Amino acid sequence: MKPTLGVCYYPEHWSPELWPEDARRMREAGLSVVRIGEFAWSRIEPSPGQLDWQWLDQAVNVLGEAGLQVVLGTPTATPPRWMLNKHPNMLAVDVEGKPRKFGSRRHYCFSYLPYYEESKRIVSLMAERYASSTYVMAWQTDNEYGCHDTVVSYSAAALEEFQLWLEKKYASVDRLNEAWGNVFWSMEYGAFAEVDLPNLAVTEVNPAHQLDFRRFSSDQVVAYNRMQVDAIREHSEAPIAHNYMGRIVEFDHYAVGQDLEIASWDSYPLGFLEDRSDTTEEWRQRFYRQGDPDFQAFHHDLYRTVGHGRWWVMEQQPGPVNWAPFNPAPLPGMVRLWTWEAIAHQAETVCYFRWRQAPFAQEQMHAGLLRPDSADAPAIGEAKQVHTEIEELGEIEHGQAQVALIFDYESCWAWQTQPQGQSFDGFALALSMYRGLRRLGLSIDILPPSTRSLSDYKLVLIPGLLSWPASLLAQLEEHQGAVLVGPRSGSKTEHFAIPAAMPPNLPMLDCKVAYVESLRDGATRLVEQGGEVFRWLEHLESNAPSLETMADGSPLLVGNERIQYLGGWPNEEALHRILLRITEHLSVDTIAMPEGVRQRQTASHKFTFNYNAEAVEFKGDVLPPTAVTIEPI
Ligand code: GAL
Repeated sequence: MKPTLGVCYYPEHWSPELWPEDARRMREAGLSVVRIGEFAWSRIEPSPGQLDWQWLDQAVNVLGEAGLQVVLGTPTATPPRWMLNKHPNMLAVDVEGKPRKFGSRRHYCFSYLPYYEESKRIVSLMAERYASSTYVMAWQTDNEYGCHDTVVSYSAAALEEFQLWLEKKYASVDRLNEAWGNVFWSMEYGAFAEVDLPNLAVTEVNPAHQLDFRRFSSDQVVAYNRMQVDAIREHSEAPIAHNYMGRIVEFDHYAVGQDLEIASWDSYPLGFLEDRSDTTEEWRQRFYRQGDPDFQAFHHDLYRTVGHGRWWVMEQQPGPVNWAPFNPAPLPGMVRLWTWEAIAHQAETVCYFRWRQAPFAQEQMHAGLLRPDSADAPAIGEAKQVHTEIEELGEIEHGQAQVALIFDYESCWAWQTQPQGQSFDGFALALSMYRGLRRLGLSIDILPPSTRSLSDYKLVLIPGLLSWPASLLAQLEEHQGAVLVGPRSGSKTEHFAIPAAMPPNLPMLDCKVAYVESLRDGATRLVEQGGEVFRWLEHLESNAPSLETMADGSPLLVGNERIQYLGGWPNEEALHRILLRITEHLSVDTIAMPEGVRQRQTASHKFTFNYNAEAVEFKGDVLPPTAVTIEPI
């Protein structure tokens, strides 16, 4: 497969006279894909029912005739102002019960049926009009579900739908009371109509109630996306994608991905680095112009699975963004490195966001491939270079990784609901394990707990998984390779209660978590073999061999060559040793990577990336700053 490059373009922002020249320059830069349309509702339908397709027809034709393949976005993330006049109750409502106003984007509530119908109408009309266009090669539904904290809505519509959802799930209110443990604090309900949304209570709402509300909220996103997919499918056979946003875990991306042909995500490495709380200040200083060396790769590996193998970067940061606390320019070479890294993880297409920097409105400080005066911005040169290099390299063959990491959205919701220590975060735990594997030079597949097969993996890591699906347990019983189960896994039932057998509730391992402690920021406990545990420590009772112990002699890691349970959040040093030990007996090649140097292997090539601002020695070679090396294997 030969990857392609593309760009996000907003024809409605520019005079039609500019479009042909823009299209010509896109092609000249080696770009062959252009995504348009996803925020243009107010121009497609300036007032209710009055449709103006003429400009969009023209834009699709101009771009298509220049040789660009068009990805058409449905415009539902930005309902126009008239929509609110028509449907004053369409707004999402925040946890404080306040409606989220018009004036930016994503202000709709997924549960509000009249807006669902309006969305279906505009998507159908768009699909009908462009299904026969030979220039439209794919669709994008909406834009970044969940961005700006927009999945969970505490609206009247959500309440109504949630009660129906509960009734469907539990059938009788007694079963709900039993499942949630509502005898506690006399929370028992007499009817589904009495169950409220889990906000504005005096203190913490029952975590089982909260988790079900999070499941419901995720299901609403899945249903809304499916409605768009069905509306497109009635007219068009072109593949359908959604552009997910990094680190957003508020809905189940695997479930949305079931209905789509392509997964894509929006990669803003510098914005994400500044925006995140799970790295140290020193780390952010070191990588502030390069991005976290594992964050992009984690998402690439995740979306390869969400897209069943077909995935893109729909928006690639090209220069400073406008939305992070600080917005530096990438080091020269980083736009190229990010692009190649996506390709190394088997991206089909990488699109830069955006073509020309807009001189107006919210994103006027966000770089594009062109400056507002249409002169080239720095990233366009790097895009051209990647295009030339892709042409020279030839085919890259896909391959399967030897290591799998199970990542689960529902578990993220559970630990947000009950962190138990304020710095416990399910995503951060998974990323730290992933980072540990990458520090050993390993290539990784990220899989859902519902995965159908683990048999091809030599090592499976399962950090922080809420509860055990029967199918996963059955696969673990059979698994020929090694399994490392991480802290908090199996610590609850599906109804958010402590399992009768006690965590980690693993039939094949003699181990019980007697009690847990969360550690305040900065507090650590020493591990006998070296390194520390931070954030989270479990006290284990086990007759299985103790492979790692805390300084006081209590077990930290127990098990055998096949399955091990880790009862704490290890720091880099401890994790490194734990991973080395478990891989020792497996035929996987590990190598201690210099910090900031990462590699990925496909069936045909080995890619090495230097995220450092300095040259680094690696395997006898000197890797210059931001270097990308590609070796055939
Ligand atoms: C993305 C979004 C784009 C644009 C971009 C700016 O989250 O999808 O529309 O806002 O961020 O970095």
